[in-house]
Amino acid sequence: APAPAFQEHAQDDLETMHAAAAECRRCDLYREATQVVFGEGATRARVLLVGEQPGDREDQLGHPFVGPAGRFLDGCLEEAGIDRADCYLTNAVKHFKFKRFGKRRIHERPNTGEVRQCAWWLGGEIARLKPALLVALGATATFALLGKRHAVTADRGRIVETESGIPTLITVHPSALLRTRGRPDAEQERGRFVAELRKIKPYL
Ligand code: URA
Repeated sequence: APAPAFQEHAQDDLETMHAAAAECRRCDLYREATQVVFGEGATRARVLLVGEQPGDREDQLGHPFVGPAGRFLDGCLEEAGIDRADCYLTNAVKHFKFKRFGKRRIHERPNTGEVRQCAWWLGGEIARLKPALLVALGATATFALLGKRHAVTADRGRIVETESGIPTLITVHPSALLRTRGRPDAEQERGRFVAELRKIKPYL
């Protein structure tokens, strides 16, 4: 798995890491992105949720999960009885990757190399926070945390372990559920996600 090898960050606090990540040149995504979007949340958080990468809103505002996917996630966490303020939220990749279509900026999935390079920062956050539970939201986060040993389709809803032994709940990305809106199964899919998020509670 690409992530957990970055013990050298364990000495740095999260602000120091955030400041260093703002200067990151480990891949090219910093060139087009507005700013780095580092993880945020309770320093004492026992649960660390990992998404894919900041979206358009996150890139503009500099905070994770503050756009449509974040609002959707907030609602689901609330319904699952989890206070977002008790968690730490971050992304596998810390810069927004996109293609321009006229004035619009359309999300592009980060590639394996970008995820591997950015695992430097994700590993640092994990080393610092030493969470009791990681939550992988979607395929990119699952790959970043677990490598190719697990996949969302096969392992969704399960709690598995990273190579360094941290329990990791595998679930879908909230953006994937936003795309089901208007479909007959949308409510059922949301319900399934909320049920999976309830598995966080014993770790808080
Ligand atoms: N999607 C993500 O994966 N992360 C964010 O911060 C926002 C949307």
